[in-house]
Amino acid sequence: MSIPTLMTAHLVLRGFREDDLDAVAEMYADNDYARFITPDGKPYTRAISWRTLCGFAGHWALRGYGFWGVEEKASRKLIGSVGCHFPEGWPAKEVGWSIHKAHWGKGYATEAARAALHYAANTLRWPHAIHVINPANVRSAAVAAKLGSVREDVWLRDGVELHLYGQDLKPD
Ligand SMILES: CC(C)(COP(=O)(O)OP(=O)(O)OC[C@H]1O[C@@H](n2cnc3c(N)ncnc32)[C@H](O)[C@@H]1OP(=O)(O)O)[C@@H](O)C(=O)NCCC(=O)NCCS
Repeated sequence: MSIPTLMTAHLVLRGFREDDLDAVAEMYADNDYARFITPDGKPYTRAISWRTLCGFAGHWALRGYGFWGVEEKASRKLIGSVGCHFPEGWPAKEVGWSIHKAHWGKGYATEAARAALHYAANTLRWPHAIHVINPANVRSAAVAAKLGSVREDVWLRDGVELHLYGQDLKPD
């Protein structure tokens, strides 16, 4: 399927490609990046990063929406994954974000997530979006708050307590 490209002030959100593997593997090899997003909080090997990359592409193919690769306009580098997804077993449809550690603190997660929320509201016509956040992930909770989301619930996933943030969406 053809994946739409979204432009923001500093970023391009575009479909993942096979040649993104090096960048994806580099992101997932970092302890701080992996801490709150991999099942055991540990970094991924290159082989598991490959499966993750395939999962990003596959979610678009099977559900018609998914995570974009986030490219920094200035460097043309792939620096994250942000988008709309609904994995099997998830409590609701989510707008999620992850940015390469070298680019934290630049507002990129918030900037990209705003574009994804706009897409969820106007193109996917979702009435609501959640964000699944580990309570210790203070940076991610700050992003949710900056987006206007509030804490709505708790989700016990495989014995781990996760906070569910969210907001109602309205098309423009
Ligand atoms: C969560 C994540 C995307 C945030 O990225 P980021 O680039 O730092 O996000 P932003 O710059 O848009 O916003 C971060 C906010 O966190 C806050 N923040 C930064 N460091 C903080 C700290 N140590 N404690 C508390 N808040 C902090 C700031 O308020 C900042 O907001 P500001 O722009 O108003 O100053 C990034 O840390 C990441 O990718 N982590 C690894 C993957 C991950 O955990 N993804 C989220 C899963 S729910």
